[in-house]
Amino acid sequence: MNINIGVIGTGLIGLIHLFSLKQIKEENLISKNGVNINIKQIADIDENKLNKLKKNNPYNVERFTTNPEDLIYDNSIDIIYIATPTKFHKEFFCKAAEEGKNIFCEKPIAFSLDDIKEMISYEKKYGILTQTGLVLRYCPIFWKFKEILLDKNLQFGERLSFIFRDTQEWPLGTQTHPSEWRKDPSLAYAGCLYEHGIHDVDLLNYLFNEEAEISKLKAKIRYVSQLTQGSIEDVAILNIEYLDGFSGNLIGIWNNARMDERRFEVSFENGFLVLDGYTGFSLNKFEYLIKKKKKRFTMKDVTIEYLEQKNYPKTTSNLGPYLYENLSFLNSVLNEEKPYPGLEIGYKAHNIIELAYQSSKENTIINFN
Ligand SMILES: NC(=O)c1ccc[n+]([C@@H]2O[C@H](COP(=O)([O-])OP(=O)(O)OC[C@H]3O[C@@H](n4cnc5c(N)ncnc54)[C@H](O)[C@@H]3O)[C@@H](O)[C@H]2O)c1
Repeated sequence: MNINIGVIGTGLIGLIHLFSLKQIKEENLISKNGVNINIKQIADIDENKLNKLKKNNPYNVERFTTNPEDLIYDNSIDIIYIATPTKFHKEFFCKAAEEGKNIFCEKPIAFSLDDIKEMISYEKKYGILTQTGLVLRYCPIFWKFKEILLDKNLQFGERLSFIFRDTQEWPLGTQTHPSEWRKDPSLAYAGCLYEHGIHDVDLLNYLFNEEAEISKLKAKIRYVSQLTQGSIEDVAILNIEYLDGFSGNLIGIWNNARMDERRFEVSFENGFLVLDGYTGFSLNKFEYLIKKKKKRFTMKDVTIEYLEQKNYPKTTSNLGPYLYENLSFLNSVLNEEKPYPGLEIGYKAHNIIELAYQSSKENTIINFN
């Protein structure tokens, strides 16, 4: 059996998906036997990029095109990855849905809540399977973080407050983010909260929502850097309160310091849980303390435990969460199951982000019903 794939956008994340798919294919990681993954077509408006990829053709692509419609209207293609600047997600999504393609759509999903609602209605109408690129849900470290939070045997006591700080280097013209579209609101819509912090807002939903829903939100969004003439925010501070009174701050920053680093601390009556200096590939500290007793975790041990718990096949890949999200998506499509996380989960994060912009603009507290 063949799974034929098309990828639109071959920049940073498009290449990560292509590399993940290559490793899944070469290491035979798919759960069903006899499945052959083909990258049928890739599309990018930048012909130079396509020519470079054509040279050694590391992903064994059958056809390269500057026109995304070539893949959307290719009847042999089952799955389309959308990895372009955010502006184009909705248009490609709706066209591909009409053609019955299953879709992996990168985050942010689209520019407005109405657009995402429309995409959800297309997903339902055309009966397609869709996953969004909210990749923190596939990080072993955050999986473990949640396991600890939900472990009733641990005597943490009541949860009191949290601080979650995410610092990323301005993703403009750097080695990791060579492109410049993120400084243009007509292509990117907004900055550190919408473009990057959506991962963090979604992570809060993943970690905390099972205990209580959000009840209140107060945000301060700042436009400090002149890099974008003040049109793209570089500071977002969200004060979030849950129905059980638990509250804390999410702080997102784009500056010129660290590439990408997170610190997350939750305080309880009898202790704390802290993750410090987490880059996705390394961390300084991951530990909890209960009544003066500490327990520390290493990334290696947590990853081994995660792979065992999730029953993932053994792999030599070091792509981590990106490999797992792709593997999960392909398995969902093969088993005709709803992929995770889907558009509804993404919509929830987008909704909080929109309310945060509103709260900051109007200097008001948003009450959730
Ligand atoms: N999930 C994650 O961790 C993650 C990480 C990075 C980026 N992203 C998201 O992925 C998307 C792409 O980001 P990126 O960093 O890969 O950007 P990028 O600039 O590195 O790559 C985008 C590619 O799309 C191409 N492109 C632009 N307009 C196009 C069009 N109309 N048709 C076809 N190709 C087009 C560009 O030439 C470029 O090669 C964004 O929505 C971004 O937010 C997600």
